[in-house]
Amino acid sequence: MITAILFDMDGVLIDSERYISAAAIAYFASLGVQVQPEDFIPHVGAGEDRYLGNVAEQYGVSLDIERAKMDTYAIYEQLITGKEAALPGVIRFITNAHRAGITMAVATSADKRKMEINLQVMGLDPSWFSVLINGKDIDRKKPFPDIYLKAAEDIGIDIQQAVVFEDANNGVQAANTAGALCGGITTSFTGDQLRSSGADFIISGLDDFPDFSTLSEFNRLIRRFLAREMAAKTRSHAYAPYSQFRVGAAIVSAATGHIYQGCNVENSSYGATICAERGALLQAVANEGDFPIEMVVVVSDDDPPAPPCALCLQVIAEFATDETMVFLYNTNGAGRSYRFGDLLPHPFIFTDQRDRHTCC
Ligand code: THU
Repeated sequence: MITAILFDMDGVLIDSERYISAAAIAYFASLGVQVQPEDFIPHVGAGEDRYLGNVAEQYGVSLDIERAKMDTYAIYEQLITGKEAALPGVIRFITNAHRAGITMAVATSADKRKMEINLQVMGLDPSWFSVLINGKDIDRKKPFPDIYLKAAEDIGIDIQQAVVFEDANNGVQAANTAGALCGGITTSFTGDQLRSSGADFIISGLDDFPDFSTLSEFNRLIRRFLAREMAAKTRSHAYAPYSQFRVGAAIVSAATGHIYQGCNVENSSYGATICAERGALLQAVANEGDFPIEMVVVVSDDDPPAPPCALCLQVIAEFATDETMVFLYNTNGAGRSYRFGDLLPHPFIFTDQRDRHTCC
């Protein structure tokens, strides 16, 4: 069970890059040095010491870095105040998490001053975060795991109870090495880059989360993102030489929260083909025996995304209720969701096998 959310800041909560870059240019201009926006690009995400320090070296300017940063942050504050700088959905997500009583922390390599300005600009009450960690609070910066381990320790939880949201490869690596679940956000890097750094699931932003009002609803949403990621991964193993139609499925157990995967496996004797959904279901039963399904996730490249076939629905019916949710995605990211009862309102099922699973 996830009980805490640890946020990276820039690129996850706030789109601050253009403002800090404009502030840095204005700061150098105040010293009589004309620098270019491109000068900063290689130093994005390396922390403000390097961000300003490297460009200063490039132009042969010697800086008192602490003073330079404070002056730059003062300009930054002027530029960003009053702007819609929070990334889409961030305020809604954090308000949901706060109302749901979920512990939250910000863990950023940026300076404390910048963090304070950002929270203020987004209108986020710092008291909503149990822990606020900045670059000065730790010696070894990301990709070392220290910042996330410290966040978990300060909150008083095991790191495995935390989900981290990160947009940068270094940060994903830090979260992964720390042992946290990590949601990669594609503000700055591609999904595949974040995956190869160790992200457990990929979203385009916190806006991908629908509203939630309890910790258990939030956990269910996390399981949905994980199931989707696992179904997509398993899909790449599909054995479909005859149809070329690859399907990945994930079935989440309501008993254990475990996620079971399957892909379609075709056969020269066509009728012997096994669909992805039944593959996942067999895995689940092999591991848990009789069990209630929390949700089914199917990934294909059909548009609209393909539902389970009637044969699979009939098999799933033994372990589902009318309310069990079925989420369908295609590889372009389009999604649909259905109640199981809407996909198969009248399964053939012996009366004594009906409504065994009323829990979900
Ligand atoms: N397939 C699935 O894996 N799941 C479904 O629910 C529909 C169909 C597979 C079976 C076959 O390998 C291919 O898609 C084309 O029918």
